[in-house]
Amino acid sequence: MNRTSNLPNLGLENRTVLITGAASGIGLAAVNLFMSHGACVIAFDMDEQGLEALRAARKDEALTTICGDVSKTEDWTRAVSLAEQDFGGLDALFNNAGITGPRASILSYPEAEFDRVMAVNVRGVFLGIQHAGLAMKARGKGAIVNTSSIVGFTGGRNINAYTASKHAVIGLTKAAAVELAAHNIRVNAVCPSPTATEMMFSLERELAPDNPGSIRAAFAANSPMNRYGEPEEVAEAALWLCSDAASYITGVSLPIDGGMVAR
Ligand SMILES: NC(=O)c1ccc[n+]([C@@H]2O[C@H](COP(=O)([O-])OP(=O)(O)OC[C@H]3O[C@@H](n4cnc5c(N)ncnc54)[C@H](O)[C@@H]3O)[C@@H](O)[C@H]2O)c1
Repeated sequence: MNRTSNLPNLGLENRTVLITGAASGIGLAAVNLFMSHGACVIAFDMDEQGLEALRAARKDEALTTICGDVSKTEDWTRAVSLAEQDFGGLDALFNNAGITGPRASILSYPEAEFDRVMAVNVRGVFLGIQHAGLAMKARGKGAIVNTSSIVGFTGGRNINAYTASKHAVIGLTKAAAVELAAHNIRVNAVCPSPTATEMMFSLERELAPDNPGSIRAAFAANSPMNRYGEPEEVAEAALWLCSDAASYITGVSLPIDGGMVAR
């Protein structure tokens, strides 16, 4: 699916947005979408090659990249400082980086992998809320969108650490929304179903190396709309939630799933 955005202008011109997981998939789609709406973007990812490709594709003063790990406090300090240094402050955070970890039964799931998934998907999101939240509090406003998943609502077989982490992202979203409303900071989450990014493509290859398309068809068949989501469709929801068009919306975890959790 080759998708062109249908979003109207939502007033993102000259807003500064920090996007994590920005070198691939949903984060990369968000970088392109936010920039096409006039935003200045700090693209934060641990994949330096991916960031280099992004810089080469978009030679634009409105883009700054930072190579770092969202589970590390010092990298968040650098990222938020860059927003202040390059663009005069931070208006929004798309707290999107995440990993799936290995597929394994909960009865044999490796402890170290459990800790790794929680470090990126939960500690990383927590640190993002904390660091961006402090910068936004000082400015008197802000918007944060975290990326959870439909497995933030339901169970997922053989992805127990991922499922736990995405439930935790919804919990963090609610806790932060309630607390930070006093500082005029809104906090919401997007919850995608299987989306056409490397995260799903690598899973398809792992499950059926000779016929990954069969896995895609099976996952797609779980959706009433009978397809994967596109990364741009998730990015559009994130942009809307970051914009003033969503000015009275906070604490919401929005499925972007073709109706999957509704059934
Ligand atoms: N693709 C899906 O089907 C799907 C469904 C539901 C939720 N999600 C969530 O969407 C988010 C984005 O995933 P995607 O599908 O775009 O995957 P992706 O693998 O295409 O992109 C993830 C990006 O995050 C980066 N990243 C990973 N760990 C990092 C770390 N510690 N620090 C900084 N960057 C790091 C990777 O380098 C990569 O560029 C994730 O939180 C994922 O859990 C994806």
